Amino acid sequence: MKILILGVNGFIGHHLTQRILDTTDWSVYGMDLAFDRLEKVIHNSRFHFIEGDVSINREWVEYHVKKCDVIIPLVAIATPKLYITNPLGVFDLDFEMNLNIVKQCVRYKKRIVFPSTSEVYGASPDPEFKEDETFLVLGPIHKERWIYACCKQLLDRVIYAYGTRGHLEFTLFRPFNWIGSRLDSLDTAKEGSSRVVTQFIAELLMKRPLSLVDGGYQKRCFTFVDDGIDALMKILENKEDCCKNQIINIGNPGNECSIRDLALLLKGIFMAHPKHRDDKVFSEIIERSSDSYYGKGYQDIYTRKPNIEKAEMLLGWKPRVGLEESLKNTLYAFIEENENLAGADEHPKIKHRKGQKGSGMDIENLVQGDPFTP
Ligand code: UGA
Repeated sequence: MKILILGVNGFIGHHLTQRILDTTDWSVYGMDLAFDRLEKVIHNSRFHFIEGDVSINREWVEYHVKKCDVIIPLVAIATPKLYITNPLGVFDLDFEMNLNIVKQCVRYKKRIVFPSTSEVYGASPDPEFKEDETFLVLGPIHKERWIYACCKQLLDRVIYAYGTRGHLEFTLFRPFNWIGSRLDSLDTAKEGSSRVVTQFIAELLMKRPLSLVDGGYQKRCFTFVDDGIDALMKILENKEDCCKNQIINIGNPGNECSIRDLALLLKGIFMAHPKHRDDKVFSEIIERSSDSYYGKGYQDIYTRKPNIEKAEMLLGWKPRVGLEESLKNTLYAFIEENENLAGADEHPKIKHRKGQKGSGMDIENLVQGDPFTP
C-alpha cells in the first residue's frame, strides 16, 4: 500500500510514519515544511519525503494523490489560541486547502482517512460523545474559537455526502486530546500559544507559572499517542472494509482529568524527575481569566468524553495507557528534547526549522523515489 501523508512531520504524522515503516511493508510519501521530527525514518527506503508547503507545491500534491492508495491530510492549525488570533488562517488552511485535497480524492477515486476532531462536538451537554448521535453544539460567531470546529464539521459533512453518494471512500477519525513526545514545539510554548500539556511542560522547564484558565475545572480525556496510532493502524488496515465510510472517536474516557489536576500531576512528575528533583525553584500554579489568557473570542468546553464503543466494535481496539504513564512519557520526552536543543545551537535542522518556509527545492537529496513530476 502507498500512503500519502501531508503534514508528515507533525505530531500524528511522524508517529504514524514511524509505526507504518516499523510494522508493515507499506510505503509512505510525505510532505511538510520541515523534517526535524523525521530523523529516525528519513533514510528508510520506503519513505519518500519532500520539504514543501502543501498550499504552494500543489502539483506535487496532486501527482501523489493520483499515485497513492490512501491519502491522510494532516496539515492544519490545531491550537486554540490561533483560532482567535488568526481565524482566517484557520479557514484558509484547515478548510479551503483540505477541501481541495478532498476533491482530488474524489477525482482520482482514492480512499481518504481524514482527521476530524473532538472539537466538533463543541459544548454538547452529553456525558459521552457518540459519533452518530451527539448534537454538534457551537457558540456564537463573535466567539471565534469555534471557527476550527466549524471548518472541521463542514468538511466532515462534505466528505460524508461524497461518501454516501458513492463518490468517495472515507474514514473520519476524531482524536480526543492525544498527547505524547513532540506534541507541539517548545518554541510555540515559549510564546504562550501551545496546547495545554506542552504549555505546562514548557512553563515547568522555564520555571514560569502554570496558568489555570478560569480556575481549571474544565476536563479533558488525554489519550496516549501510541494508543491513538494503534487505532489508526487498524483504520488503515481496514479489514473487510470495517471502517468504510465510518466516523470513529479515538480517545481514552478512562483518562478524564481536570486541567487543575493536570497541572498538579505534571508538576509532581517534574519535581520527581532525576534531573530536576534538586532544583531550587519550581513553577507556581496560578489562575487566569480566559479573557486575559486568550482574549474575548474564547469560549471553553467544560467536559469532553468520548464514547468508544464504535472503535471497540469496528476495530477491536481499546486504549491501554493510563493517565499518569501517558503524562510521564510525554514529560520525560520533552525534558530530553529540551536538553538536546540546549546543546545544539548549531544543529542544522533546528536552524532550518526556525528559518524560511520550505520551498520544496532546497533539500532534494532527501527526496527518494520518484522525483516531482508535474
Ligand atoms: C484542542 C485543540 O482544539 C485541538 O488540538 C484538538 O482538535 C482537540 O482539542 C483535541 O486534541 O482533542 P483544547 O482541548 O481546548 O482543544 O486545547 P488545549 O489548548 O489543550 O486546552 C485544554 C484546556 O486547558 C482548555 O480548557 C484551556 O482553557 C486550558 N488551558 C490551556 C489552561 O488552563 N492553561 C493553559 O496554559 C492552556
